[in-house]
Amino acid sequence: MTSSIRGTNLLSLDGLSRDAIVEILEVADSFVEVNRRTIKKVPALKGRVVASIFFEESTRTRLSFETAAKRLSADVLSLAVASSSVKKGESLRDTISTIDALGIDAVVMRHGSSGAALQVSRYVPHVSVINAGDGQHQHPTQGLLDVYTIREVLAERHGTTGREGGADLLRDLHVLIVGDIRHSRVARSDVAAFGAMGAHVRLAAPGSLLPDDVASWPADVANDFDEALEWADVVGLLRLQKERGSGAYVPSLREFTRTHGLTAERARRLRPGALIMHPGPMNRGVEIDSRVADQANSVVERQVANGVPIRMAVLYLCVAGLASGAE
Ligand code: CP
Repeated sequence: MTSSIRGTNLLSLDGLSRDAIVEILEVADSFVEVNRRTIKKVPALKGRVVASIFFEESTRTRLSFETAAKRLSADVLSLAVASSSVKKGESLRDTISTIDALGIDAVVMRHGSSGAALQVSRYVPHVSVINAGDGQHQHPTQGLLDVYTIREVLAERHGTTGREGGADLLRDLHVLIVGDIRHSRVARSDVAAFGAMGAHVRLAAPGSLLPDDVASWPADVANDFDEALEWADVVGLLRLQKERGSGAYVPSLREFTRTHGLTAERARRLRPGALIMHPGPMNRGVEIDSRVADQANSVVERQVANGVPIRMAVLYLCVAGLASGAE
């Protein structure tokens, strides 16, 4: 078990201890206040250089990582992959070595291949590598911001703050993750993050969209989605990943929505106070009804907003290697 990400990489949430996650959440708490200031900047990473390299599309993750780095006063090198020498056939190794030669302290990378972030960490062992999503493997900062968001809402309901025992509110929570689990790096990171915090995690999907190794996951599989909805305190929907061929795993989108979509009728049967998450981007009308996505118990916008303090905390801990937060 890794007990802290200080001065290292963040490649996966598998094997990260509860203490390591709590440390990240508490450092993020200290950056929430910075994000509310008129001048949203602290000098924590002044003079440090963060490279942002996205080989796959992204809106939330890329913008929030680059915002996070700038709010910590780091310089950001943002590679536009589509107009880079990657298009001339330059390898991942040569691309990373070239960027490293410019003098960098961290690489934030998204890549379509599972394990690409680990590979890069071997190419540049003196640089902090932060995985912004690799294939179907992991999306660690999404798992962290999901845990952070639920902890924040539960702490508000208890009239406390996250720092005052908020993490304990996640213990024994019932978290249901629904949809295209086979192709989802978010599901893998959420299972690890909520599991480490002591929550019970259950998965619901058509059999074809469950991963082949699901029996080894630290989560159980729902026999019946509708029954599981009544069990859940939190329902985390996943995007049906058409770009990874998920369309071939279901007879039709309509069929998927009928059996596993969070329709308005299903949302009405949730427990009082149950929360709805979605990492985005959403296929409105497929895995989630459009009105349900916007209703009061949906935390989708909070998830996006919390991406900034969480990514500030991850960059700060990995690059500066210190445990204290905002200055
Ligand atoms: N949740 C998420 O990773 O969104 P983006 O693909 O827009 O970054």
